[in-house]
Amino acid sequence: MRLPAGDYPLVKLRGPAAIVGLSSAVPRPPFVSGGVLGREQLAALERLLGLPEVASRTPVLLVHHPPVDARSRLARLRDGLIDADRLLAVVDRLPRGLLLFGHVHARSHVALRTSSGTLDVVSASGAALDHPDPRIRAGFNLYEIAGNGAIARVESYALDASGTGFSRVPMPERIVS
Ligand SMILES: [Fe+2]
Repeated sequence: MRLPAGDYPLVKLRGPAAIVGLSSAVPRPPFVSGGVLGREQLAALERLLGLPEVASRTPVLLVHHPPVDARSRLARLRDGLIDADRLLAVVDRLPRGLLLFGHVHARSHVALRTSSGTLDVVSASGAALDHPDPRIRAGFNLYEIAGNGAIARVESYALDASGTGFSRVPMPERIVS
């Protein structure tokens, strides 16, 4: 079904997980890379999260721009998620879930308190950057959702200096209410 917001949000049901893709990509002037979800996509997300097939699973929400961003509004307008507040209002109903983003190319893990629980808001590094800072160095994140829907693992791994293997690295963790 094509929604007014386009092809997003999209959802894939995989075992105990409902993987929900959002699009925050919008054309911007040069040197501006802010993203927007828009009212239509957020309204569709709200309806989608209420569907029994989704509500009975652990949501894994994917969005390119950062949903949690403590910087000034000006900075967020320049390169953040401009309507992050509206997204957070929609996901406030969720008792648990993963909210994954990229864009900043640095590892982070925020425990975001909602009205009924906690969302893990997690970003990944870029996939190919040979950088000395372990937050930024190339690697991958590993997420495990147990059969009962509990989030069993959120881990990050960075490429070894040898370039032949990966080692687990810490993610800066914060709690946001
Ligand atoms: Fe980006």
